[in-house]
Amino acid sequence: MESLAEREAFIRAHTALADVPFVPEIKLHTATDVTPLWRATQAWLGTFGLEVPFWCVPWAGGQALARWVLDHPESVRGLRVVDFGAGSGLVAIACARAGARSVRAIDVDPLAEAACLLNAEANGVSLAVTIADVVGSALEADVLVAGDVWYERASALRFAPWLASLSRAGIRVLTGDPCRAYVPSSLVELARYDVPTSADLESTTVRVTRVLEIREV
Ligand SMILES: C[S@@+](CC[C@H](N)C(=O)[O-])C[C@H]1O[C@@H](n2cnc3c(N)ncnc32)[C@H](O)[C@@H]1O
Repeated sequence: MESLAEREAFIRAHTALADVPFVPEIKLHTATDVTPLWRATQAWLGTFGLEVPFWCVPWAGGQALARWVLDHPESVRGLRVVDFGAGSGLVAIACARAGARSVRAIDVDPLAEAACLLNAEANGVSLAVTIADVVGSALEADVLVAGDVWYERASALRFAPWLASLSRAGIRVLTGDPCRAYVPSSLVELARYDVPTSADLESTTVRVTRVLEIREV
């Protein structure tokens, strides 16, 4: 795997710092055009058929969740937070800004690690980052946030029972979701926003996006 310094250099070379449309308090290393960055990532890694570089844009679910956390800082203040499926680290950064005691960003993509660290630095916060598939494992956390993770059937079928088990274990589980196909239907709605999105990625410039809680007893 490329070193962290090489991954950070790749991100710096292919993105620009930009305000997040729905969360302008936060700026991210963002792709101005996703397709060329996608091609460049595949060429650089010598791997084809890669998934879209999720870390290079703020997804609607993450934007909604970050907005909600910043507007409800008591939800994370003084608490240990995990951002699952962190991508750019947007929600993790919002939690750190809102006063979380500690924030760990978790993703499976090594480029997400570099993106989270660069974006944390750009926003003056510090994050711990883990690159691993922790689905099914116990977590040391008070709150788990997951922005826009319900887009793929196989993953959603793994995430839903695991996140429900974390809720039963006493972790508050919050997710942001723009009505993706595989979001569980039995969640508690906390807020609903019209979130600006990239027409290239979403075929629309606004998506109705909900902040939801997985509340198991
Ligand atoms: C659509 S992106 C959302 C990124 C960010 N939360 C946001 O809302 O902008 C979904 C993220 O989930 C990550 N992901 C997928 N499967 C995962 C897994 N098993 N464990 C951790 N992260 C995962 C992907 O790599 C990707 O970064």
